[in-house]
Amino acid sequence: MPGSKKVSENPTSAGAGNDFVGYEVLIDFMEKRRLPKLEGDLIEIGAFMGGGTVKLARFALKYGRRIYAVDIFDPRADKTPDKSGVKMCDIYQAFLQGRSQLEVYQQATNGFDNIVTINKDSKRVRFPRGQKFVFGFIDGNHQPDYVINDFNLVWRNLVPGGSSGFHDYNFDLPQVTETIDSLIDKHKDEISEVNEIKQSHIVILTKRKGLPGK
Ligand SMILES: C[S@@+](CC[C@H](N)C(=O)[O-])C[C@H]1O[C@@H](n2cnc3c(N)ncnc32)[C@H](O)[C@@H]1O
Repeated sequence: MPGSKKVSENPTSAGAGNDFVGYEVLIDFMEKRRLPKLEGDLIEIGAFMGGGTVKLARFALKYGRRIYAVDIFDPRADKTPDKSGVKMCDIYQAFLQGRSQLEVYQQATNGFDNIVTINKDSKRVRFPRGQKFVFGFIDGNHQPDYVINDFNLVWRNLVPGGSSGFHDYNFDLPQVTETIDSLIDKHKDEISEVNEIKQSHIVILTKRKGLPGK
């Protein structure tokens, strides 16, 4: 999530049906790349109020897929400051205006039986080997160790040809950008494409096909 700018937005606009990232660009990417032709589900790390989760769920439903939404549902958890010193947790609490994050999320996502909500710290989440993902979007805790953890959580189960995106690339959380760059370098042999969507501060990595053992 972009930092201080968000505080000045109208928090009431960030309820059901809305998200902070603009998930339409993710859906557009998946459609253009024909990702649903591959076998697997979607995963989102960092669902916040569920507005983006619902958009992914509608898309997934068209192809008979599920969306796994991982969130700790504790708006105080991420104390990472942006470039101007504003902490993520303060931004989240400003948007929530005293409401329960989990309740707002549950209201937004109510009725979608293809959403699998994982209410946990992402470091405590494990998927079985057989769980396949075609697309992942990472926008959870912004500490470098979490960015690495969340990448690994998605990448391990991402099918060849599948893609994993990050929010906050080249924006106001320099440590997030540095960590993503180090992950791109470390995994360069497994990555076939890196796509940056500059206006949305998103970068999407596509997993190479034909990797040994895949
Ligand atoms: C920037 S918000 C996600 C915004 C969402 N992608 C959108 O555009 O609407 C980050 C989310 O990560 C969650 N989060 C923070 N620390 C977490 C952790 N350790 N594990 C899982 N989720 C976490 C927060 O609760 C928050 O909902």
